[in-house]
Amino acid sequence: LFSPKNSFIVSLSHIQGIPLLERVVKYWPRVEKFQASEEDLLIATYPKAGTTWTQEVVDSILNEGDVEKCKRAPTQVRMPFLEMTAPDGSSSGITKLEVMDPPRVIKTHLPIQLVPRSFWDAGCKVIYMARNPKDTVVSYYHFDRMHLYQPEPTVHYSILGWGSWYDHVKGYWKERHNKKILYILYEDMKEDPVREVTRIAQFLKRQLSKSTIEHIVQMTAFSAMRENPMANYSTIPDTIFDRTASEFMRKGEVGDWKNHFSAGEDAAFEEHYRKIMSDCPIPIRFTI
Ligand code: A3P
Repeated sequence: LFSPKNSFIVSLSHIQGIPLLERVVKYWPRVEKFQASEEDLLIATYPKAGTTWTQEVVDSILNEGDVEKCKRAPTQVRMPFLEMTAPDGSSSGITKLEVMDPPRVIKTHLPIQLVPRSFWDAGCKVIYMARNPKDTVVSYYHFDRMHLYQPEPTVHYSILGWGSWYDHVKGYWKERHNKKILYILYEDMKEDPVREVTRIAQFLKRQLSKSTIEHIVQMTAFSAMRENPMANYSTIPDTIFDRTASEFMRKGEVGDWKNHFSAGEDAAFEEHYRKIMSDCPIPIRFTI
């Protein structure tokens, strides 16, 4: 497979000090000017925090657990990725969103300060999902290995696209009471998906029966999503996802970091984490 990894196509550039893929920066003016409508819903995450899972849960709630409706199109068509442009420039989140009528469900990885102003002016709801940083970085590493238009993990690993995980999770946490932000945690959703799906449904003001919630939990379980061609990114061509390197639906677990961190690395990380998070008590767990 042709690998553009070390070419300019996948280098990182900056917007307001945040490293972003070159192709995101190139089209930034369009993103910045995006006009959100009050009924639009933003799903915001740091990369690899469980975005696709949250998207499927939200779409299932909005469609009251109707499997066929949720299979109407692949994830990236149903819920476009705001700031992203295809590697060949053929499509973008903005061009998809411009031809959709609100209410739209929109994915973003932007840190809160880069979210286009119109979302806040319109008073849009935001669902933010955070995942513990050890599992997030392991997942990001495997994603960068398989995604041919993401930087090579070994080359750039101190600077990641969309910036610091710490700043990202803290940014949304600190604003969650000032704005309409529902803050959810990957580990909580793994531990008790019925409870968390119920919280999301309440936030979206959808009254769903207990059996519909349970059905949604089954539809959006890792094993079900992995087999669902409209939710597992199997529609992304092999020229972009090198599936011989890793899978998109890789493990979907809490604690896989234990297979990747040595005891020494873990101790050093823990020390760093405690220091940096001391001003922001987000109840993130590394095991459940
Ligand atoms: P792993 O690489 O640890 O398996 P994102 O959608 O933000 O890119 O996140 C991808 C991560 O979420 C991957 O983690 C993927 O396997 C996991 N994931 C996707 N669907 C999931 C689900 N239904 N339940 C749990 N994890 C899921």
